[in-house]
Amino acid sequence: MRTRVGIVGGGPAGLLLSHLLHLEGIDSVVIEARTREYCERRQRAGILEQASADVLRAAGVGDRMDRVGLVHEGVELRFEGERHRVDFVELTGRTVTVYAQTEVVKDLIARRCADGGQVLFEAEAYAVEGIDTDAPVVRFRHGDADVELRCEVVVGVDGYHGLCRRSLPAGASRTWERTYPFGWLGVLAEVAPSCDELIYARHDNGFALHSMRSSTVSRLYLQVPPATDANAWTDDQIWDELDIRFALDDWKLERGPIIEKNVTPMRSFVTEPMRHGRLFLAGDAAHIVPPTGAKGLNLAVADVTLLAGALRRWLLDGDQRAADDYSATALRRIWRAQQFSNYMTTMLHTDPTSNPFDGQLALSQLRYAATSRAAATTLAENYVGLWHP
Ligand code: DHB
Repeated sequence: MRTRVGIVGGGPAGLLLSHLLHLEGIDSVVIEARTREYCERRQRAGILEQASADVLRAAGVGDRMDRVGLVHEGVELRFEGERHRVDFVELTGRTVTVYAQTEVVKDLIARRCADGGQVLFEAEAYAVEGIDTDAPVVRFRHGDADVELRCEVVVGVDGYHGLCRRSLPAGASRTWERTYPFGWLGVLAEVAPSCDELIYARHDNGFALHSMRSSTVSRLYLQVPPATDANAWTDDQIWDELDIRFALDDWKLERGPIIEKNVTPMRSFVTEPMRHGRLFLAGDAAHIVPPTGAKGLNLAVADVTLLAGALRRWLLDGDQRAADDYSATALRRIWRAQQFSNYMTTMLHTDPTSNPFDGQLALSQLRYAATSRAAATTLAENYVGLWHP
């Protein structure tokens, strides 16, 4: 089997890259280990920066997002029994859109299929070879067959645990990592959101986040110890703890059936460089942010938008300069998002392992963001995204 760009991973990064390359007339094959149903169902992030929404719109895959996505003009910070609104439009002139990653994935799969694109599900890549040559190869298992995919370029968008980063030669890259002593228990509930905008709450018991998926489905998160089993929490325990962490005199959290529960670990991680020879990394395969601040999906969209342009110049015009600059250009934005995600995480979570002094600093930082226009602007411009394509 032969294609110009072999894409390992059929998440939002791989599917969007395949679509953007198709718009440039560049052929690709997407290899995804899971089933289509699994990819379309898994619950992930939910916030698109304005620039990410613009990329999807410009690529012709933003119609459903524009119909059912919710445009949000700010968020609420809640702590010590007080609420403070951060007004994105007033501070930055920009907005974000609440539209689930899983919906972006459905839209992209439908479009790739309608355009005759090759997205192979249940295709498990097990080797990436020849990245130092002009003819790299991806080997994968599909049904009962071992398939060899010959390409000009391989893109690894197979996530943090994926094959591609592990296929870099030893010593070819450097990594930075931090883990956090907590995770998020995320629930999807069939109940109208109890708020119009997201609520980021800090409480002595830990962080809580109220988000949403539609006018009838709420998405809620609780800070929990890192190795928590989601099923160890009953629905009543979850609602009771959310009540405690969001408590305000004139506000009530509506309850409803919980239809899904999962626990997300929290880490910060960066690989540098994001390219070796003819293997490029993008999205979670190259970097992870803790979810507070909602940057993960947006970084993936930014990476592949940059990479699609760089590959067009290389594969169609013979100009390698943008491909050579890809890693350094992407990493400038990635490190900004790393700093912002770490700032949001440390400011809003309680850390049972840290010096209590750090807890007081975090609370002071939160009060500063809630009361100073300068600090609120810093939060807002990072949240809506500093990257304007
Ligand atoms: C959601 C997830 C986030 O990490 C965040 O910061 C805000 C919202 C969500 O899933 O809706």
